[in-house]
Amino acid sequence: MKILVINGPNINLLGIREPEIYGTETYADLVNFIEEAFAEAGVEGDVYQSNHEGEIVDRIQKAIGDADGIVINPAAYTHTSVAILDALKAVGIPTVEVHLSDVDSRESFRKISYVSLAAAKTIKGKGFEGYREAILYLAGK
Ligand code: DQA
Repeated sequence: MKILVINGPNINLLGIREPEIYGTETYADLVNFIEEAFAEAGVEGDVYQSNHEGEIVDRIQKAIGDADGIVINPAAYTHTSVAILDALKAVGIPTVEVHLSDVDSRESFRKISYVSLAAAKTIKGKGFEGYREAILYLAGK
């Protein structure tokens, strides 16, 4: 089994970016954490990050015939992107949406998620641990 983890815009700036919300651990720390979760779940994995909506759509399309599950933190595109929602629906690969912060307790525009319409499950406000939960869920563990 193979799981693809996709992170959207500004997730590459973890550690620098609003540390009071996102913490002081870096994107490299997140990638290490995700790789440990792949090992714990006994799955193969890929980790991808992009600041560009179309590149995220392209990566989702490339997952056809390759990934058995997708974990996605679409970041700001969560609240705006019909294109990412449609890509997830088009490929039909089981998907879990993850947010590091508790989006429901922040600005009201963050309560809207287009991507959640294509997600089997959404995990919010658990930091890095949310990615681990998502990977274990998709792996059936
Ligand atoms: C985020 C929440 C989004 O509202 C925000 O735009 C992000 C990160 C999170 O992981 O908490 O960039 O998806």
